[in-house]
Amino acid sequence: MKPAGPDKFMELLREAVATGSLVKLTLGKPDGRDPTLRNLFVRPVQLKSGPRLAFVWRYATRDVTKNHESAEAIRVIEPLVGSDFQDAHLFTTTGSAQLETGGRAPRLRVTGGARAGAGPAANDRVKSRPIEPGSAWLRSLGITDQAGRPMTAMADKYRQIQKFGEILGHLIGQAPLPHDRKLHLYDMGCGKGYLTFAASELLGGRALVRGVEARPDLVDFCNKVAAEQGISDRLGFCVGTIAETEAGDADILVALHACDTATDDALAKGVSAGAALLVVAPCCQKEVRPQILPPPVLNSALRHGIFVERQAEFVTDALRAQLLEWAGYSVKVMEFISTEHTAKNTMITAVRNGSRGDEAVARSIRDLAAFYGVRRHTLARHLGFDLQ
Ligand SMILES: C[S@@+](CC[C@H](N)C(=O)[O-])C[C@H]1O[C@@H](n2cnc3c(N)ncnc32)[C@H](O)[C@@H]1O
Repeated sequence: MKPAGPDKFMELLREAVATGSLVKLTLGKPDGRDPTLRNLFVRPVQLKSGPRLAFVWRYATRDVTKNHESAEAIRVIEPLVGSDFQDAHLFTTTGSAQLETGGRAPRLRVTGGARAGAGPAANDRVKSRPIEPGSAWLRSLGITDQAGRPMTAMADKYRQIQKFGEILGHLIGQAPLPHDRKLHLYDMGCGKGYLTFAASELLGGRALVRGVEARPDLVDFCNKVAAEQGISDRLGFCVGTIAETEAGDADILVALHACDTATDDALAKGVSAGAALLVVAPCCQKEVRPQILPPPVLNSALRHGIFVERQAEFVTDALRAQLLEWAGYSVKVMEFISTEHTAKNTMITAVRNGSRGDEAVARSIRDLAAFYGVRRHTLARHLGFDLQ
């Protein structure tokens, strides 16, 4: 009989699979019987034949991917937990659980909605960390120290990376992504590559991840780190502008904090590629502000510049969200990370659903644009949508 920790962990996993709340399962610290085996990653995926759990077995020089139906997946995982692998980490949409069996007694730490049945003591809580804190790239990018703790000055960035990992992991489980070939993910305006590396870690060998960045020094730096980590075969960075980048094979397109209309250029690339998943966090929305011509009822209120600024941000992003709906996507707008940590905190996510050109959505886009006097919006132009 297994000790209580692994049993309880399996109970949580079964519940997460049964309720559809599973985001990711990671098994680590293998027992060394196969010296080349590193980790096992398990995620829910939606195939034409129905929902499955995708297993990625990560070895020193290759990844092996296999899909299982849920009951079979549980049968495969159960003997591994607390035996072939000493560490197990479960992420659900509402919490996480971590099992460590390397010491004398198994240690199970549970947080949030991953708790099933009688919960553990409050001091057992751990934070949800979809990105492994000990990942070498986090150290190379100056985010964590040798012990995998966030550097004080990078604590906000670390939080952002983990939140991004949590959101992306969840969306990957929902988007209609293909499973018969490698995925292509583009991170447009990737900067120092924090989120590009995170995306690559989440997807492992399942995806070819490309960061696009205008600054050659950042591209060189990121390519150097990817080479040091031995992952250049699946993660690469190139110099270029978003508008000029060929991304016709994009399955997932990410653009976080790309300035002004660069976000629209990125979204348009994703839509024209038919990407299954788009994730953007817009910043400095300048295009719409000078166009704002509010109805008389708002004239007095909008004497104040800060209100005009906020209205312009709202109108820009609300039009983006609706244009994506019109283009055949299910759209969500959310707070990316609390304003306490960054002012650029709105995230728009879009999962392709295929029903393009809804007339009611088109009318509501034109009504909103007309209400504020907006005649030009870069995403509308890219999508061939007439705002008037
Ligand atoms: C604020 S940083 C964000 C970096 C990264 N996406 C993140 O969130 O950590 C914006 C980056 O986008 C790049 N950038 C802005 N506009 C761009 C464009 N049109 N084409 C390519 N890169 C662009 C900038 O050079 C900068 O490195």
